Amino acid sequence: MAEVHEIADGIFRIATFIPEANITFNQFLIADEKPLLFHTGQRLLFPLTLEAVRQVIDPSRLRYISWSHLEADESGALNEFLQIAPQAEAVHSELGVVVNVNDFAIRPAKTIGDGEVLDLGRHKLRFLITPQVPHCWDAILAFEETTGTLMASDLFTQLGEKTSMTSGDMVERTMASHKQLPTYIPVSQHTARVFDRLEALRPGVLACMHGPAFSGDAVQALRDLRTALFSEPDRELTTIGGGAEPARRS
Ligand SMILES: [Fe+2]
Ligand SMILES: [Fe+2]
Repeated sequence: MAEVHEIADGIFRIATFIPEANITFNQFLIADEKPLLFHTGQRLLFPLTLEAVRQVIDPSRLRYISWSHLEADESGALNEFLQIAPQAEAVHSELGVVVNVNDFAIRPAKTIGDGEVLDLGRHKLRFLITPQVPHCWDAILAFEETTGTLMASDLFTQLGEKTSMTSGDMVERTMASHKQLPTYIPVSQHTARVFDRLEALRPGVLACMHGPAFSGDAVQALRDLRTALFSEPDRELTTIGGGAEPARRS
């Protein structure tokens, strides 16, 4: 059974905890004139996710489906949702569409550019092209401007079953989980530039894919996560789009 919880005005967190994996998988439904689902969940979870969407809207009304990067938990049930919702379009970057979606999806996708805003009605979703952040070449992130909600994907992944929403410390728990997933997020100067962009958006809510959503000083949470990631002594640094030295920020 998936839990449904409104984390910001019109934005619903759909959460399924899988005890065997000790992790929660979260999808986010933006209920609006043109409803958008960010993350589909795995195909295996599709019946649960579908029922959860149905608690908020008629799933056949879904207009857009988007996700950060092509992984089973982020986009595994894309085609199942495209079949349920005949008007729905998959939305991703040109890179994501060319490399993955054109082959994977049952219908052509809508391509969005860096900084492009998708008008959903009351909600305006701005997309950021962020290759390798949180991970995977095709990665994108998104920011809902009306509510100040950042679709943070895997940035704040926390293992274990948690509350649906928190305003407490996210970073200590995130880094504890990262100790079990040491190559989870590549860290480079490119990563630092993405953090610059995310912090400049001044989000107030973090819609995290694994673990609770966050409401509060999300800019500080991002700064603290950046500092923690770049401070890990045994992290293998990657050099995507920049030099080998990590950017530090106090
Ligand atoms: Fe991921
Ligand atoms: Fe994920």
